[in-house]
Amino acid sequence: MNTKRNIINVGLVGLGTVGTGVARILKSKAASLTNRTGFEFRLKTVCVKHSGKKRALELGKTKITTDPRVILNDPEIDQVVELIGGTTDAYKILHAALSKGKDVISANKALFAERGEELFRLAGRVSRHIGLEASVGGGIPIVKALSEGLAANRVSAIIGILNGTCNYILTEMTEKNRTYAEVLKEAQAKGYAESNPSLDVNGTDTAHKLAILARLAFQRKIDFKKIRKEGLVGISPEDIFHAKEMGYTVKLLAIAKTEGDALDLRVHPALLERGHLLANVNGVFNAALVRGDEAGDILFYGRGAGERPTASAVVSDMIDLARLRRVGVQPHHRDFKPAILHPASQTYSRFYLRFRVEDKSGTLGRLTVMLGKHGVSISSVHQVAAPHASSVPVIMLTHRANEKKLFEAIRAIDRLPIVRQKTVVLRVEGE
Ligand code: NDP
Ligand code: HSE
Repeated sequence: MNTKRNIINVGLVGLGTVGTGVARILKSKAASLTNRTGFEFRLKTVCVKHSGKKRALELGKTKITTDPRVILNDPEIDQVVELIGGTTDAYKILHAALSKGKDVISANKALFAERGEELFRLAGRVSRHIGLEASVGGGIPIVKALSEGLAANRVSAIIGILNGTCNYILTEMTEKNRTYAEVLKEAQAKGYAESNPSLDVNGTDTAHKLAILARLAFQRKIDFKKIRKEGLVGISPEDIFHAKEMGYTVKLLAIAKTEGDALDLRVHPALLERGHLLANVNGVFNAALVRGDEAGDILFYGRGAGERPTASAVVSDMIDLARLRRVGVQPHHRDFKPAILHPASQTYSRFYLRFRVEDKSGTLGRLTVMLGKHGVSISSVHQVAAPHASSVPVIMLTHRANEKKLFEAIRAIDRLPIVRQKTVVLRVEGE
């Protein structure tokens, strides 16, 4: 940093959806950023993959390169902003930048969830800072809130909607009866989805974000691979319709709860009662309900993906890190103990079940007997009339049941000759 004039030289790696947003803010809001913070952020160099690509933004004096070493080896660059995604090249870039004494900022949740510990340890060793606000919840400042604003709290639960793409898909399917494939395409065009959108829809992106939040909230090392996750695969318009008829809405939830000394961490679609705080979080919006022992329940809400909200979070980290560098604050790194994960066999929930069965006498009885045998008690049953079809849907809601026993019952039911399709099982959360 040029201390006399408080100039921060920035090297930006990645000029896609988020990188373009960051460059645009630095250019269009240069004066107001300096007025508010006292720093002048200069975008010195931008690194991209394809040199010939047409860019949405005129970069003026900023140098463009395809070689990240131009940024990493530049002693004038104070901050490296990584916005390329992935866990290999991005890791190398952040590792090299920290090793060379630069502060780093990234929106890369996959990297922090899967290889974060190595980078946090390195940052501690070399006394440099890592900004990761943009990695969770787009424009919502939840990382800062958990690290600082709620530091006086013992957090006991986080329940969130953390993937904008999935929430956009579910909302459009629910409200406008649009197809999954059509809406996913639109989410990609709007810049919400990951470059590999299966990470969004199979729950991986939500699990990445949950791992980051759980580490901050519970001060434990989280083994991302052990988070139980299910994505949107298997959610059909039929289930969204039945859920709606019964007063519920379907959301992809990220759940982290303390269970004694253990943590219950899971990502899965769930039915939420229409009156639940998270049930009306729609479109690209994200939200997280955090329960602290001092502050009580706090709800964070905002746009969870897209160029502008995410760039807003990146720039907030740039300002934060510039301030920390100016006053010489050392990063506070602790090697957390690994989290003990609460097993599925001890998890209880209410369930939505959709069977597709033969429409003949005794069918309902056989289903309920099998559920009863496994200790699963039913709270409501609805058979959809289909006079000329050979099979009919039967929808059930259960009382709280042991998850392991419930799935054992469903496996046994799906082997019965009266069952025509694999049964759909969704959890009901929130009561
Ligand atoms: P994009 O795919 O839109 O952009 C990626 C950019 O990185 C492109 O400019 C590409 O170059 C460049 N790039 C890729 N590989 C390399 C490389 N090896 N060296 C140099 N440049 C490279 O991604 P997004 O902007 O959507 O996402 C960036 C990061 O932000 C990801 O980690 C993502 O998970 C995260 N994120 C994204 C959000 C969103 O809403 N999109 C929200 C929150 C986080 P080129 O342009 O030449 O192809
Ligand atoms: N693909 C992610 C989402 C981007 O849709 O939420 C924001 O992290």
